Amino acid sequence: MSEQPENTPRPAADPAQPVAQRGSRRFAPGEGPLPDPAGSHHERRIRSFQPRRSRVTTGQAEAMLKRWPDWGLDIDGKSVLDLGEMFDGLPVVLEIGFGMGEATAQMAAADPGTGILAVDVHTPGQGNLLGLADRNGLTNVRVANGDAIILLREMLAPDALDGCRVYFPDPWPKARHHKRRLIQPEFLTLLATRMKPGAVLHCATDWEEYAEQMLEVLSAHPDFENTQADGGYTPRPSFRPLTRFEGQGLDKGHVVHDLLFRRK
Ligand SMILES: C[S@@+](CC[C@H](N)C(=O)[O-])C[C@H]1O[C@@H](n2cnc3c(N)ncnc32)[C@H](O)[C@@H]1O
Repeated sequence: MSEQPENTPRPAADPAQPVAQRGSRRFAPGEGPLPDPAGSHHERRIRSFQPRRSRVTTGQAEAMLKRWPDWGLDIDGKSVLDLGEMFDGLPVVLEIGFGMGEATAQMAAADPGTGILAVDVHTPGQGNLLGLADRNGLTNVRVANGDAIILLREMLAPDALDGCRVYFPDPWPKARHHKRRLIQPEFLTLLATRMKPGAVLHCATDWEEYAEQMLEVLSAHPDFENTQADGGYTPRPSFRPLTRFEGQGLDKGHVVHDLLFRRK
């Protein structure tokens, strides 16, 4: 997301100014997420997300200021993360594209024995999830700011992950945009190297034709196998809460499909 033109120097936050007046990109270093921390926008690569201009509410900014220093991290591509230290030895699941984070917070509360490394580029959502984690005393969530591809490629060790969740990834409905869809063979090959053997990738979508594509590429991929014996979609697992995008899809009459594939 670029809420400021790229390459524009970020003004330092003025502590005298109320947080409500700070734009979503005006957190000082260490105080909040940096815009495009790994220079992802300058890489010659097709990205799965769209720059979005959106403001951070007062509550989101306050949560950011309070919790970012301990629970937030920029995806700058500079070092490999020590997930054991970050999550105190808990098994760690990566969630790619948590949106506003309501479902993430619910799953973290329901399963305190699992760490959730939640990644998105959307600043208001990052503040929202940190606020939910703070208010609910959830110590097993960390918020990563930036492109999940760079996180996987540069900052996660082989076999680092005990699972991965991709709930309602951007459907990119136009045919000329299909190349932006996250679930593609190349992405799966990278992801598989970062997942432990036996770890499960859980995808869900309300976009019928994307669901078919997911089933096709996952079934054909040599590093994954369907947990569903009949080779099809998995009935919605009770542990996955309704997400914000899912609710919007259901309101439009869309049918939701879950896919659970195991890393071989
Ligand atoms: C359609 S929204 C779904 C949000 C949420 N999972 C839900 O169901 O309400 C997809 C989210 O994925 C994020 N996203 C897409 N590609 C990403 C990437 N490569 N790295 C990090 N976040 C990404 C977008 O910013 C967006 O917030």
